[in-house]
Amino acid sequence: MINTRTMPPRLPERKELLRTIARFSGRRVLVVGDLMLDQYVRGAVGRISPEAPVPVVRVTGESHIPGGAGNVVNNLASLGAKVSVLGVIGEDDAGARLVEHFRGRGVNVEGVCVDVERQTTQKCRVIAERQQVVRFDRETSGPLSHATESRLLASLDAELPDADAVILSDYGKGVINPRVLSRAIGAARRRGIPVTVDPKPEHFRLYKGVTCVTPNTSEAWACMRRDAKPGSDAIDALGADILKVLKSRSVLITRGPDGMSLFEEGRRPRITHIPTQAREVFDVSGAGDTVISTLTLALAAGAPLRRAAALANHAAGIVVAKLGTATTDAKELARAIR
Ligand SMILES: Nc1ncnc2c1ncn2[C@@H]1O[C@H](COP(=O)(O)OP(=O)(O)OP(=O)(O)O)[C@@H](O)[C@H]1O
Ligand SMILES: [Mg+2]
Repeated sequence: MINTRTMPPRLPERKELLRTIARFSGRRVLVVGDLMLDQYVRGAVGRISPEAPVPVVRVTGESHIPGGAGNVVNNLASLGAKVSVLGVIGEDDAGARLVEHFRGRGVNVEGVCVDVERQTTQKCRVIAERQQVVRFDRETSGPLSHATESRLLASLDAELPDADAVILSDYGKGVINPRVLSRAIGAARRRGIPVTVDPKPEHFRLYKGVTCVTPNTSEAWACMRRDAKPGSDAIDALGADILKVLKSRSVLITRGPDGMSLFEEGRRPRITHIPTQAREVFDVSGAGDTVISTLTLALAAGAPLRRAAALANHAAGIVVAKLGTATTDAKELARAIR
């Protein structure tokens, strides 16, 4: 049974939030996960092709930005963390770009494995007059080879002792597998540092014992293999059940325009609903990456879960008001709280 009679717990005060932000700088966070490169090709449509009934896009510009676990790395670097990244790329231009981008931001890339048999995950979006025309995906998403997995595990053993927190960013492309998970979660727990997971519902039961999992609403339902039900009571029961199954310290369900709900373990789960802080919403893509980055960095800085979640919610409120997959920094976050 869930205790619904208790008053909602007090949300952390501004002063406490600001104190945690002041401790972001230099915290060491290890990101393990599926790296991706997002490519944007921009142009104008002048006419329909004489070859086939498709628009002809005259290309005027092109840009690249890390996606997936790479977007988590970017968010953390912007917030002031010292980031190390573990993942797999192919021996290709997209992989080289990712590494170059990370190096440019001072990220430790020692743990990025090049696997010549795999392609770097890349999503190329063609945007004409602000409209997405088509997206091309390139990826190898099967299980890792034995050799690549061994290198990844060795890097994990090398990097984990230096970390203040670990993020497992699972986009289901192969890096987060049972062995990598159990090694990372086991080592983090032995060291007493927080370990958080952005989950893939298919791997859900492998995340046992982590500090926090951060599914969005539909992932949370999928994790429990249930059909989604509307309403706050249904979410309360769902979160409590996830806690029970995972035996994790907490679950943070991100609920888009409805903010987020934090469930903390206890004889009765403690539930905190946090309304969104967003004033304007332009682009929600990548908000989930901002949530797990801010949450984990705050935990690494010594914040309790509720304060970390409140900060993550503020950070998400900032990035959804920006165009594209965006990030925020400590200064902007502090300003939003004042
Ligand atoms: N439409 C919205 N209005 C206001 N706030 C939003 C909206 N969408 C997202 N947010 C904020 O961003 C947080 C994370 O968003 P969401 O629950 O959509 O995660 P997600 O589905 O993992 O996102 P993504 O996969 O795009 O990174 C929410 O908890 C909320 O604070
Ligand atoms: Mg997400």
